[in-house]
Amino acid sequence: GQGVRSAAVGLVLVACEHAPSALDPHGPQAAQLAWLGWFMFAVATAIFVLVMALLLYGLFRRRRTLAQPAAAGGGDTGARWVVIGGIAMPVVVLVVVLGLIIRAMPALSAPSTPANLTVEVIGYQYWWEVRYPQHGIVTANEIQIPVGQTVEFKLTSVDVIHSFWVPQLQGKMDLIPGKTNTVWLQADEPGVYRGQCAEFCGLQHAQMALLVIAQPPEQFAAWADAQRRPAVQSTDSLVQRGAQVFAREGCITCHAIRTGAGRVGGQLGPDLTHLASRRTIGAGTLDNNRGNLGGWVSNAQALKPGNKMPPQPMDGESLQALLAYLESLE
Ligand code: CUA
Repeated sequence: GQGVRSAAVGLVLVACEHAPSALDPHGPQAAQLAWLGWFMFAVATAIFVLVMALLLYGLFRRRRTLAQPAAAGGGDTGARWVVIGGIAMPVVVLVVVLGLIIRAMPALSAPSTPANLTVEVIGYQYWWEVRYPQHGIVTANEIQIPVGQTVEFKLTSVDVIHSFWVPQLQGKMDLIPGKTNTVWLQADEPGVYRGQCAEFCGLQHAQMALLVIAQPPEQFAAWADAQRRPAVQSTDSLVQRGAQVFAREGCITCHAIRTGAGRVGGQLGPDLTHLASRRTIGAGTLDNNRGNLGGWVSNAQALKPGNKMPPQPMDGESLQALLAYLESLE
């Protein structure tokens, strides 16, 4: 009863989210790719059916000729079939497909309309730094964009090659160290579009996910305003103690926090100024809640082996204070 019901609820919830499928496009660039995919599938299906029909025809015809040996021969017919089916038809099909791909390429490698917003995405093993140079925002793993507008993405990497892939919005594009690749995408409808690293980059390649969150322009502007602000200065004593733990336990060596006085901290891990505003931690690995955060801080290696965050053993009181501080960073 209960189990079945919760399983059913789970299925409904899964069905409500956008499946990250390239065949479920939600933007003009992805729509081009999906159309091309369906066209090639249709052509391949037609050719398969034709070949199977000819095969059956050949099998039955052969039987008849065996029954009547005098009627054998027809070498010319065989040669004609080889020329038509083996040369002429493949040439026609491949030229048509090549033409469609050449037509799609410029459409995918240029913005459909001029882009007002630029987002820089920098690949790390195994997460994504996300910068909005026009807004002075630095965040991670979740990319908010205004719906219905072309957004320019500038992609690079600090370590190995990664690949930025949000199947419902655009094709794949590599993040290459020392090089900047540019790609444009647009979301036609508000929604959460899951993306995934699409180039093997190490142990946790499979858990290097991201979310593109498309919202109406007003909501995007409100989000950007909130992200531009420095970290909240809480007067709560537990939170203040947590901030001290953050500095004392060395979190700040790798993670930056933007305060009124500037950006303080390291560059090795995600900027945590507005950590509590994000939906997930560990690049889409876990929901952002207190339990997961506590497990992640204590021993991230148990949750995502091979990531760059070392275990942070500390006493329970310090951990509770630290979690209160992290949860205050809205
Ligand atoms: Cu990053 Cu695969």
